[in-house]
Amino acid sequence: MNWTIEPLPAYGPLFEGAIAVYGEAFIQPPYCDPDRGKDVRKRIREIHAHRDEYRAFAAVREDATIAGMIYGYHGRKGQWWHETVRRQLPHSLYSHWLGDCYELVEVAVAPRFQGLGIGRALIEHLLCKRKERTCVLSTRTDSRAHELYRRLGFEELAQMPFVENGATFYVMGKILR
Ligand SMILES: CC(C)(COP(=O)(O)OP(=O)(O)OC[C@H]1O[C@@H](n2cnc3c(N)ncnc32)[C@H](O)[C@@H]1OP(=O)(O)O)[C@@H](O)C(=O)NCCC(=O)NCCS
Repeated sequence: MNWTIEPLPAYGPLFEGAIAVYGEAFIQPPYCDPDRGKDVRKRIREIHAHRDEYRAFAAVREDATIAGMIYGYHGRKGQWWHETVRRQLPHSLYSHWLGDCYELVEVAVAPRFQGLGIGRALIEHLLCKRKERTCVLSTRTDSRAHELYRRLGFEELAQMPFVENGATFYVMGKILR
């Protein structure tokens, strides 16, 4: 079945469908997090959607089923993720990779549609024509998502936790221009 990528507003049925897909993806191992959909809805509306260059998209099948979602924004000093990475990266790496960066914050594809190229298409769409020099992201070392990021040209910058005693993440970056 065909699908298209559409802009994702922060309210309404498309948004709620995308949050449901996000919840389904992150209830799977290794995340197993039943609250993640609720948490991300609040974070998008209260914080992330207000950041510079916030862009969000949904992959929608021709029968109107929502298959996946993605969003990102311009990364800046003062933001929690940015500062957490800044504290743990050597300064030269920090300025090279995070000095002018777009942050790929979340991407999720419903489990029944994974492995069909939807994740790749969402990432390519989000990053197409971006003006920042790099794109950066973090992804758990015990998930398979990093395989896809590597294939799309991301390299591993470091491995780090984001909270004390939490999971270890790869921080990855790709030069955009
Ligand atoms: C990671 C994710 C967005 C990729 O989307 P996708 O549509 O499955 O990706 P694509 O079909 O474009 O690419 C498939 C590749 O992604 C990787 N991958 C990561 N997790 C995968 C999964 N659960 N199922 C299938 N492929 C997965 C593999 O390298 C796979 O390549 P392969 O088919 O040769 O094994 C999706 O699997 C997902 O939502 N996973 C759960 C949430 C998550 O990990 N999000 C990223 C957090 S940083």
